[in-house]
Amino acid sequence: MSLRNLSVKALLFLGICQVGRRGLASAPKLKEQPKKIAVIGGGIGGTAAAYFLRQEFGPSVKIDVFEAGPVGGRLATENIRGHDYEIGGSIIHPLNLHMKHFVDRLGLSTRAEVPSKVAIFDGKELTFEESDWFIVNFLRMLWRYGLNSIRMHMWVEGILDKFMRIYQYQQFGYSFSSVERLLHAMGGDSFLMLLNQTLEEAMLANGFSQVFINDIVTPISRVNYGQSVRLSAFVGTVSLAGANSGLWAVDGGNKRVCSGLLYNSKAELIQARVVSVSVKMRPSRSGTVANFYELNYVGDSGPAHSLYDIVIVATPLHQGLSDISFSGFSPPIPSHFPGRYHQTVATLVLGRLNMSYLGSNHKPADFVVSEILTTDNEALAINSLGSLHPVHIPQGYRQPPASESKVWKVFSQEPLSEEQLGEIFVSREGVWEKRWLAYPSYSPPQRRMPPFTLHDRLFYLNTIEWAASCMEMSAISARNMALLAHHRWHDQTDKIDQEDLHTRLRGEL
Ligand SMILES: Cc1cc2nc3c(=O)[nH]c(=O)nc-3n(C[C@H](O)[C@H](O)[C@H](O)COP(=O)(O)OP(=O)(O)OC[C@H]3O[C@@H](n4cnc5c(N)ncnc54)[C@H](O)[C@@H]3O)c2cc1C
Ligand SMILES: *[C@@H]1O[C@H](CO)[C@@H](O)[C@H](O)[C@H]1NC(C)=O
Ligand SMILES: *[C@@H]1O[C@H](CO)[C@@H](O)[C@H](O)[C@H]1NC(C)=O
Repeated sequence: MSLRNLSVKALLFLGICQVGRRGLASAPKLKEQPKKIAVIGGGIGGTAAAYFLRQEFGPSVKIDVFEAGPVGGRLATENIRGHDYEIGGSIIHPLNLHMKHFVDRLGLSTRAEVPSKVAIFDGKELTFEESDWFIVNFLRMLWRYGLNSIRMHMWVEGILDKFMRIYQYQQFGYSFSSVERLLHAMGGDSFLMLLNQTLEEAMLANGFSQVFINDIVTPISRVNYGQSVRLSAFVGTVSLAGANSGLWAVDGGNKRVCSGLLYNSKAELIQARVVSVSVKMRPSRSGTVANFYELNYVGDSGPAHSLYDIVIVATPLHQGLSDISFSGFSPPIPSHFPGRYHQTVATLVLGRLNMSYLGSNHKPADFVVSEILTTDNEALAINSLGSLHPVHIPQGYRQPPASESKVWKVFSQEPLSEEQLGEIFVSREGVWEKRWLAYPSYSPPQRRMPPFTLHDRLFYLNTIEWAASCMEMSAISARNMALLAHHRWHDQTDKIDQEDLHTRLRGEL
């Protein structure tokens, strides 16, 4: 089930890095460089934006990153008995090239792999259990679902192939003013269609069977996005790509990438909540009028404000996630855009699993399944149940069997009651709960997404989450923000929203 041409793609990317004629020295034009840039949000999006902004604008610009909470945002860990465990975004795809680049560049490493096995639970029993033997899994899938499973991998890979084009565009310095244009440059109209169909519709139209969708595809979309196959086909395929082998995580915790990028970018971290952004006019030296953005923020030492040439908003502008007012803009910019974020509750439990809850007659001592996915079932309170490894795998670590007390991660849409937990676990030594507004609630057709450009030099990174929310999408958007900010500042319009890049750049390789 591995990606057959991973190495070819990796080589291609390396090639691009060397051939790409555009390096750091994207020649500044006559115009001066900006003096101050603000980034609102210190998650992977905001910190990656700081990193790419430094690349684009050079060493002299001052970059401030505002963060109201812990750096990392939705990448977070919980300490349980002396070990840290991922409680937010946890897995990274092998072809997530920005994330890979960050880890290499920052001198981090990937977490050691622990072999893992998947099972599927329908609320009564385990309907599928992965075997140790690849051939057994393969034949079982073939027996039950015909060629659906193989075709799914080909289908997802076809989409992934087009997705990979973005890295080449960005390497050559191209940027996009809206998510729609960015997606169109990658995959044309067919990509935009993926926003307007549900995953289920798209797969049925491509000849996949309903049984396969219910049994196999639904559990994957439930574990990754807490939603059924009625989410949009674009994020749905991102989720299916996440069911591939070769998934990885950062040794010591994914959020280390955020603090690393912040340090590497030499940005200043301002621990404060931004409450408003307003646009100010000021006559400039050359006699024209220039826009500045004033940020008002509240930190430990009380309220304060500062002026910036460029501002990147790197948090979702949605209820419960941020509350920033924008004043002086015409047309006005709302504090919250339409659409809502989906609640996913992550509950970490240190305890022993109740095997009868899974309807299984395995002896707990023999049960080493680590990921239990679920089918769509009204009566089921959980979306998934997984045995969790610490963010750093100690030497000699092995996957403990279910007879031992260990850390489990349960995803559910609502917080779990004592009673529910009591049914899933026969004993509990501790419970840690985090309620996330995790990712958008996707219901196609997708209404127009907010633009990347909210105003002249005020940009919105997280609009990309409405196509798909994951670490790599935030990183792709971060690079796009830095390029767009640079090109708009220097009036390089030929690097924005170019059509037909795929054919044009083919000759460049
Ligand atoms: C439970 C869960 C599981 C997930 N699993 C995966 C996965 O396996 N793989 C994957 O790739 N992705 C996963 N994701 C998605 C991934 O975590 C997110 O897409 C990504 O982390 C978003 O990063 P961001 O920087 O864009 O936003 P955020 O991480 O949300 O960062 C925004 C930051 O802005 C700050 N902020 C907000 N308002 C203000 C203000 N006014 N002033 C100052 N600061 C402000 C917030 O405190 C926050 O830190 C998961 C998410 C969740 C919740
Ligand atoms: C997707 O749906 C939206 C809203 O119904 C519509 O405005 C848009 O044109 C559609 N896009 C495509 C590519 O079909
Ligand atoms: C285990 O699960 C079964 C089936 O759901 C339930 O009847 C039983 O009460 C649970 N056992 C414990 C010890 O919680």
